[in-house]
Amino acid sequence: ATPGLVDVHGRAIRYLRISVTDRCDLRCRYCMAEQMTFLPRSALLSLEEIAVIAERFVARGVDKIRLSGGEPLIRRDVSELIRRLGRLVGHGLQELTLTTNGTRLAQHAAALVDAGVRRVNVSLDSLDPDRFRHITRHGDVAQVIAGIRAARDAGLRVKLNTVALRGLNEDELPAILRWCVDEGLDLSLIETMPLGAIDEDRVDRFLPLTAAFDRLSADFPLVRDAHRSGGPARYWRVEGTDTRLGLISPLTANFCDGCNRVRLTTEGKLYLCLGHDDQVDLKAALRDGGLTALDSAIDHGLGRKPARHDFRIQAGAMPAVARHMSVTGG
Ligand code: GTP
Ligand code: 5AD
Ligand code: SF4
Repeated sequence: ATPGLVDVHGRAIRYLRISVTDRCDLRCRYCMAEQMTFLPRSALLSLEEIAVIAERFVARGVDKIRLSGGEPLIRRDVSELIRRLGRLVGHGLQELTLTTNGTRLAQHAAALVDAGVRRVNVSLDSLDPDRFRHITRHGDVAQVIAGIRAARDAGLRVKLNTVALRGLNEDELPAILRWCVDEGLDLSLIETMPLGAIDEDRVDRFLPLTAAFDRLSADFPLVRDAHRSGGPARYWRVEGTDTRLGLISPLTANFCDGCNRVRLTTEGKLYLCLGHDDQVDLKAALRDGGLTALDSAIDHGLGRKPARHDFRIQAGAMPAVARHMSVTGG
């Protein structure tokens, strides 16, 4: 038997997030600057290397894999990767899933289901076409809505990820939750995190979810739901409906004690924490020393996993780390 994955703080690591590309067809204002420098294609892991690393993690006890990005569905060979990782479902892997911006979801929905994907998270911060365009700088909300409906109709459980943004979608959160109830979707609200330089000060957009939740409670009967997804959200249910509301509150309710995850970037680096620069180079280990070296590098990383992030949203504050969410994969 291969040794399981436990970090230096005694936390079992069962969730691998893989950023398959740092590129994206949108430029959400809280996530990216308008002008971004992306990783050179020569630095990227091949599909084969991603699969070998993922398979190794599953052999060592990871039971949930999420592909993210950037936008995962813009990587050319992503369907093949999903098919390959899908073979692990039921063989160590309990869940293979995706976080996507939805622009290409309609084309991929059927293949995702065939590969063994059962649910997807779709990032959507406004249902209003002009506002959506403003937040994403390039996006067409109708395309994303079509993607969401195609995914749902193909049998995927869909959860919206909505970053709560002061002055941008704050007033729309009840309407978004109402829409989720009507469409049969779940909703997770997320506090904006200080990752990477953007063109505005995050303090101007930060909305504590405590405030958002109070507002939603006034309009909806929300009851605490013990459901756990393996991610950081705490859940409520809109009573009498199938819709769950998740809150992801890294700033106002730190959840690091329960951390169960690590992140592989498209360059082959394993980041130990979203909020720190600590990483180990799995690509170099695999290329130089095969699976044995890969195992040692993973163990070395887990021995250095930080206890928690130290995010703060303050006027004029520098980002906690220089890399954007799109590099680490959320
Ligand atoms: P579920 O499997 O549906 O629970 O999804 P998830 O929350 O694990 O993944 P998703 O990609 O939908 O992430 C939603 C938000 O949670 C993103 O903004 C992530 O960056 C954030 N998030 C996920 N894991 C962590 C974490 O370890 N730390 C922090 N600070 N944020 C996280
Ligand atoms: N803070 C919080 N969430 C972010 N996302 C991207 N950048 C940030 C940030 N700085 C969200 C996306 C997506 C998820 C993976 O992370 O909207 O839903
Ligand atoms: Fe874990 Fe770091 Fe996320 Fe905290 S911020 S939950 S320690 S990955």
